Amino acid sequence: MPLLYEGKAKRVYSTDRADEVRVEFTDAATAFNGQKRAEIEMKGVVNAAVSARLFQWLGEHSIETHFVEQLDDRNLLVERLNMVALEVVVRNWVAGSLNQRTGIPEGTPMDDPVVEFYYKNDALGDPLLNDDHIRLLGLASADLVARLRQEGLRVNQVLKPFFLQRNLVLVDFKLEFGWNSAGLLKLGDEISPDTCRIWDQTSGERLDKDRFRRDLGRVEDAYQEILRRVMN
Ligand code: TMP
Ligand code: ASP
Repeated sequence: MPLLYEGKAKRVYSTDRADEVRVEFTDAATAFNGQKRAEIEMKGVVNAAVSARLFQWLGEHSIETHFVEQLDDRNLLVERLNMVALEVVVRNWVAGSLNQRTGIPEGTPMDDPVVEFYYKNDALGDPLLNDDHIRLLGLASADLVARLRQEGLRVNQVLKPFFLQRNLVLVDFKLEFGWNSAGLLKLGDEISPDTCRIWDQTSGERLDKDRFRRDLGRVEDAYQEILRRVMN
C-alpha cells in the first residue's frame, strides 16, 4: 500500500480502509532536530510493542486513542487522525529542557505536573509556545488547549502507576493528539522510550532515549529492559 508519510523514526502507509493507516516503526534514531543520527538495533520492535501495550492500557482506562491492533513486530494498525500541530509535554520530575530553561536540577520532583506545548515545526526546531502564541498561530482554540492539557494530565494519572508497578519512574513524556473522521479527539503517534523519560526507581538509571541523546552507552539494553518490564 502507498506510503503516506515518512517521519524520522516511522513510516505511515494507507490501508484498504480510508479511516485506518499502518504505522511502521524503524530502528532510525535522531536527536537535536535530526542533527544526530544513528540506528538503535531493535528499537522499532520495542517501540511498536511498548506503544501497543500502553495504548491498550490507556484504552482500558477510558482514554481515547488511535490504536486498533498490532499487525506484526514493527507495525501497528491505527485510526487515521488529522493531527493538531502541537506536542503536549507532561513532566513529573525536572529534566531536559525544563532543567535548561529554569536551572532547577535534573531529578527534582514536582508537587504538581508541568504541562507544556511545543509547535510541531521541524524548520523552527519545535519551539515552546505559550497560550497566546498558540492563539496567534491559530493552532488550537482556548477550549482545545484546555482540553489537551486535561487529557495530558489524565494520561499521566493512568501511566504513572503502570510504570511504578514495574519499578519505573515516569519522569516526563510527549503526546500528540488528532481528530478522527467522526470529529472525536484521540491520542495518536506513539508512547515509547523515544518519547518518554523513564528512570529505574531504585537506581535512577535512565532507560530511555537520553542514553542515545547524551551518549550514555548501553542504549539497546535500556530499550530491551523497558520492553521486558512493560510487557510483564
Ligand atoms: P525535553 O526535556 O527535551 O523538552 O523533552 C521532554 C519530553 O519530550 C521527553 O520525555 C522527551 C520527549 N521528546 C520527544 O518525544 N520528542 C522530541 O523531539 C523532544 C525534544 C522531546
Ligand atoms: N525528535 C527529535 C529529533 O529531532 C529527537 C529527540 O527526541 O530529541 O531528531
